[in-house]
Formats: sequence, C-alpha cells, structure tokens
Amino acid sequence: MFGKQHRTLGEFIIANQDSFQYSSGELSRLLNGIRLAAKVVNHEVNKAGLVDILGDAGDTNIQGEDQKKLDVLANEKFIQTLKNREIVCGIASEEEDDYISINSQDEKHQNKYIVLIDPLDGSSNIDVNVSVGTIFSIYRRVTPVGTPVTLEDFLQPGHKQIAAGYIIYGTSTMLVYTTGDGVNGFTLNPALGTFYLSHPNMRFPENGKIYSVNEGNYIHFPQGVKNYIKYCQREEGDRPYTSRYIGSLVSDFHRNMIKGGIYMYPKSSKASNGKLRLLYECNPMAFLAEQAHGKASDGRQRIMDIEPTELHERVPFFCGSKKMVEKAEEFMN
Ligand code: AHG
Ligand code: MN
Ligand code: MN
Repeated sequence: MFGKQHRTLGEFIIANQDSFQYSSGELSRLLNGIRLAAKVVNHEVNKAGLVDILGDAGDTNIQGEDQKKLDVLANEKFIQTLKNREIVCGIASEEEDDYISINSQDEKHQNKYIVLIDPLDGSSNIDVNVSVGTIFSIYRRVTPVGTPVTLEDFLQPGHKQIAAGYIIYGTSTMLVYTTGDGVNGFTLNPALGTFYLSHPNMRFPENGKIYSVNEGNYIHFPQGVKNYIKYCQREEGDRPYTSRYIGSLVSDFHRNMIKGGIYMYPKSSKASNGKLRLLYECNPMAFLAEQAHGKASDGRQRIMDIEPTELHERVPFFCGSKKMVEKAEEFMN
C-alpha cells in the first residue's frame, strides 16, 4: 500500500474543503479533531483485552487513576478533543443525559457547530474482542451565535446534517465519513498513526444478499417484518440470502455497504420504537447510506425527514442497499 503515494485523511480534508458551502476551514478543523480523538480511542480499544491484567473497570490503577469502562473513556476523549478545538458550541452523546453547552475561550458562544456522538457503538462486543465503532453527526446551530445552545440546536432533522461518519475499530481501524459529497473511507496505518484514503467513493451495491437482524427477537416483530424475513429465507431467484449479525451497527453497516445488504432494527412488542437512537445512530448512518446510494427508512418514511422531539429518542431502522430496503418497506406497508 505504501509503495506509491497515497493520500492521507489530513490532505483529503484540506483538498476538499473548498467544495464545502459554509466556512470550510472550521469544518476541516472539526474533522481533524475527530480524526485525533479516533486515534486516541483506537489506542484504548486495542488495549481492551488487557483490562484483566491492568485492572478492571471500577478498580484503581497503579497511578491511582480509576479504571474506566471503555464507553465512558471514549466519551471523555471525544468531548475533550472537541472542546479543545473551539469550533463546537454543543455536544450531545449517548453517554450523557443532557447536551453539553460549550463556551469558546475568548468570545462567548461564538462557535457554530454542534456534534452528536455515540462514542462506543456495539459496546457489548468489547469483552469478546469483536469490532466496535464510534458514530458522529455534525450540524450548524440554528440559534444565533453569541447565545448558549439550546435543545432546538440538537433536534434538527437528519437532512440538515452537514457531515457524518463513523470509526470502525475492526481488523483494521477505519474512518468513514461524508460531507454531502459522497462517502470516503480511510484506513489507519497504526505504525505511522496516519489515516490513508483506502476506500474512495464508497457505494452500496443496489441490491444485496445479506440481511442483518437480531432474529432472537423474531417472535416480537410486527407481521410485515416476519414476512420479509421469511422472504429473505425462501428458496427463489437469488434467495435464500445470507444472515450476518455482529450486533454492532457500525460493523454491520460497514460490511453491508461493501458487500450489499440490509440492516434492520424493527420495533417489537417489547420495544415500540426499536432500540436505536435517531440522533446519533440512525441519522448519521442514514446520511452515509444515502450518500453511498443506499437507503434508510423507519419502515414507512425516510429517516432523515423525521422531526426529532427528544435527544435520546428511538426509531425503527431499516438501512442498506436501496432495492432491499424498498422490498422490506413493501412488506411492512
Ligand atoms: P451501543 O453499544 O452504542 O449501546 O449500541 C448497540 C446497538 C447497535 O450497535 C447494535 O446493532 C444493537 O445495539 C444490537 O442490539 P441487540 O443486542 O438488541 O441485537
Ligand atoms: Mn450504539
Ligand atoms: Mn454506545
């Protein structure tokens, strides 16, 4: 890979900043902040298997510091890094009940961007050495600069996002993001600590053969979803499809984008809106999906058209290859 010159993420951000319609330098700085936090969290994720040796979460380590759970740690690292950049006026995170208002150092509340994050997605996979991720979503504030952010700044529909992406801590670590001009993927060279453009212009195949759903919940799914799952399993045409479910949205999405597939987290008789969070899980993934020629729906309507009413609201989620999502919608309507 390193025989010829490959473009780094830093170079790519600069080279593409002019195509961005707002203040391009600021978004570049913000993305660079995420790039830095990704490397820090990557380092922590890689050490996760050593917690039994270095100390469990809740213990005190040799330096007298409390050992933290990785999702708490990832949350802190991202918030810290973004605060330091003085571009972000507010952050909302899966790990925080409320949004955080950030005051820039010299002038009050002059920053323009808000960030929503799921700092560690798929966290139940950490203890078993299976890949996890981070998801982020970026908006411009809607309240005037010079005033503190309000909930209104965070409750924007997904189509207002100006950037979104994820980091996948997998067999290699990748950062995948969009600013509304396609999706590009960068792989970390851990020896150099540099992300290289490895997956330019990523696209979902229009159709696919993988369906990803927690089938253990089958009995609780609505009839339409049950029927669609049966359709996936039927021997006919290019079916039965293959079932693949990692239990970490980022990883399931990433595989399906490369190979073609559909990810589903439907509502059920136990959870009337499913499990996934609209603002920092579904919207950013939906933005990426659409930018990669895929589709994201709650079963009836476009995810990015939903008007949010709560910071941590949940929504049923169907996302992936366009034709597969359309077929699933057919079964549900
Ligand atoms: P998180 O670790 O951030 O709480 O998210 C886990 C999510 C998502 O990543 C994954 O696809 C889904 O929960 C798995 O849920 P089930 O275990 O219910 O299938
Ligand atoms: Mn998550
Ligand atoms: Mn999480």
